[in-house]
Amino acid sequence: STRQFFVGGNWKLNPTSLSKAKELVEVLNKAELDPKTEVVISPPALYLLPIQAAVTNKQILVSAQNSFYKESGAYTGEISASQIKEAGLPYVILGHSERRTIFHETNEVVALKTRAALDAGLKVILCIGETLAQRESGDTAKVCEEQLSAVVKQIKAEEWSNIVIAYEPVWAIGTGKVATTAQAQETHVDVRAYLAKAVTSLVASETRILYGGSVNAANAKDLAAQQDIDGFLVGGASLKPEFIDIINARK
Ligand code: G3H
Repeated sequence: STRQFFVGGNWKLNPTSLSKAKELVEVLNKAELDPKTEVVISPPALYLLPIQAAVTNKQILVSAQNSFYKESGAYTGEISASQIKEAGLPYVILGHSERRTIFHETNEVVALKTRAALDAGLKVILCIGETLAQRESGDTAKVCEEQLSAVVKQIKAEEWSNIVIAYEPVWAIGTGKVATTAQAQETHVDVRAYLAKAVTSLVASETRILYGGSVNAANAKDLAAQQDIDGFLVGGASLKPEFIDIINARK
């Protein structure tokens, strides 16, 4: 397949100081990374520029964790996609479940943000995923479709090459409760089937779908061997040396 293996490290609101953030980069700069993996790290907004400057291994790209859908104006506290682009950062994470839950971002807001990010020339790591209650009531595929459908309405088929989907079941995020390889693979197949139906079969076969939720060095290899899992979005373990093993999961 044309889908390059992708490993993203979403640092969230970590670590607690810039010097600790630079230490994480130092470890990555020195590491032997599978050259076939696309590696993206996503530090908190205030650290984006110093971390980008600290990265000496050109294989490592830096991503923002959020961007707003307006380019400028009276939006206190927000950062625009074009500001991120101008800073030389290639990616932004959008629709993370923490944004959806804690900051009340709706599917429509996430879609507007995705539209604005693509307009600014950014690539988007678009997060989707169901809660435990939704999985238990059999609504996993439906929830993922609804989240994607809002974006489908805003995006032309050819623009999907600038989007990486991250399937992150909410119940697996930060819980140590990773989805089984079968659960992840099954949902990735459902997401691909939805893309084939709602966009095109080419977009379905070429869009990368990452898994996220309690990925670590011990479970990454099995997950990475699944046919429809094209990489990971890693939270907690991206702050540890084992992030290197996850990057090298297909080596
Ligand atoms: O974006 C990353 C996910 O929220 C996964 O976080 O690896 O700490 O479970 P986690």
